[in-house]
Amino acid sequence: MAVDLVPSGMSLTLSPEHEMIQQVARKFAQEKIAPIAAKFDESGEFPYETVMEMGKLGLMGIEVPEEYGGAGMDTIAYVLAMEEISKADAAHGVIMSVNNSLFCHGLLKFGTEEQKQKYLAPVASGQVVGAYSLTEPMSGSDAGTMKSRAVLNEAGTHYIINGRKSWVTSGPVARYIVLFAMTEPEKKHKGITAFIIDTERPGFERGKVEPKLGIRASATSEILFEDYEAPVEDVLGKPGEGFKIAMTILDAGRIGIAAQALGIAEAAYEASVQYARERYAFGQPIGSFQMIQQKIADMKTRIEASRMLIYNAALAKMRSWETGERYTLEAAMAKLFASETAMWVTTQAVQIHGGIGYSKELPIERYFRDAKITEIYEGTSEIQRIVIARNQLGLR
Ligand code: CAA
Repeated sequence: MAVDLVPSGMSLTLSPEHEMIQQVARKFAQEKIAPIAAKFDESGEFPYETVMEMGKLGLMGIEVPEEYGGAGMDTIAYVLAMEEISKADAAHGVIMSVNNSLFCHGLLKFGTEEQKQKYLAPVASGQVVGAYSLTEPMSGSDAGTMKSRAVLNEAGTHYIINGRKSWVTSGPVARYIVLFAMTEPEKKHKGITAFIIDTERPGFERGKVEPKLGIRASATSEILFEDYEAPVEDVLGKPGEGFKIAMTILDAGRIGIAAQALGIAEAAYEASVQYARERYAFGQPIGSFQMIQQKIADMKTRIEASRMLIYNAALAKMRSWETGERYTLEAAMAKLFASETAMWVTTQAVQIHGGIGYSKELPIERYFRDAKITEIYEGTSEIQRIVIARNQLGLR
C-alpha cells in the first residue's frame, strides 16, 4: 500500500481510508469502551465482550493481510486506531497493541506459511487473543539473561520447555503466545530461540495475576512451563535467532505503546481544556490565568510533537517492508517522547483539576495511573535512551 500520509498545503492530511479507520475506532471507543472503562478499571476484570467486538471491527490485526484474517491496512492506520482506543481506555489499548504488534507482527514477519494459517489467522481476526513473553522474574531490561530452557528431544521432533515467565500482557487469557527460551545457554544472546505456544497443550500453566496500579482491565500474569512439548514446527524463525526476533518485534511494539501514550495524553489534555474553560476561581475561568495557560500550551505542544514522532516511526516501519532497514531509532524516540509526554501531561491534568482530579469521580486520576506503565513496559525510558544513544554514537 502506498504511503498516503501526504503533505497538503501546510499540514499533513490523512487519506480517506485512514480517516475511515480513525472514525470507526473513535465511534467504537467513545460509544462502547468509554462508558465501561471506570467499572473495569475498578474490578480489574478482563473486558472480553468489547475485545471480541474489536476483533470483529478488524482492530486486532490491522496490518495483517486479509488472507490471514486481518484488515490489510498500514501502520498509520494502526497508530490512528490505537490512539482512539487508548483515549477511551488504555487497558483496551495495550490488549490491542500486544495482539497487533507483539503477536501478529511477529508471526507475519517470521512465521512460515503454515504457522500463519494456523496461528496468525485466528489471532488477527480476533477470535482468540495473542501474547508475547520475554521477561522473567530475574530478567527484565537485560533480556538476554533469561533462564527458561528449551531442550530438543533425542528424536529431534520436540523441544521440552521448562521455566517461569513474568509480566505477560494477556497472559491469563491468551490462546497463543510468542515465547523466548534458551536453547544453548553457553551462546548467551545467540542461544535464544522463539516458539509459538499453544496454551491448550499440556505443560502450560497460568500463574500469579499481577495486581496493578493502572491499565487494570488488561490481564497480566506469570506463565509457567513444566515439560511443555513444543513441536519443532512451532519454532518461530531459526533456532538461535530468538533474541533478534524479540528485539525486532519490540521495535514494532514500541510504536504501538507510543500511540497508546498519545491517546492517554490526548484524553487528559481535552478534559483539562474543557475544565479550564468551565471552572471559575477569583471570578474568572481558570483558563484566563497565565499559569494554567502555560500548562495548556506545553501540553498541546508536547502532544503534537509526540504525534509527529509516532507518524515518523510508522512511516519508517512501512518503508522497512521494502528496504529491510531497521526502524529501531525511530520507534525508540517515539516511545520515549510519547510516554514521558503522557506522564507529564496527565500530571498537569490532575493539577489543573485540583481536588476533583484526584477523585475517582472523574477519569483524570485513571489517565495518570495508566500513563506510568508506558514509561516502563516494552523497554523503560532508560532503555530507549540507551538504544537512541548507541545508535547515534555508532556503538551498534
Ligand atoms: N533489531 C534487530 N536486532 C537487534 C536489535 C533490534 N532492535 N537490537 C539488538 N539487536 C541485535 C544486535 O544487533 C546484536 O546482534 P549481534 O549479536 O549479531 O551483534 C544482538 O541483538 C545483541 O544486541 P545488544 O548487544 O545490543 O544486546 P544487549 O544485551 O546490550 O541489549 C537492549 C540491548 C537494547 C538493552 C535490549 O536488551 C532491550 O531492548 N531490553 C529491553 C527489553 C524489553 O523491552 N522488555 C520488555 C518486554 S515486553 C513487555 O513489556 C511485556 C508486555 O507484554 C507488554
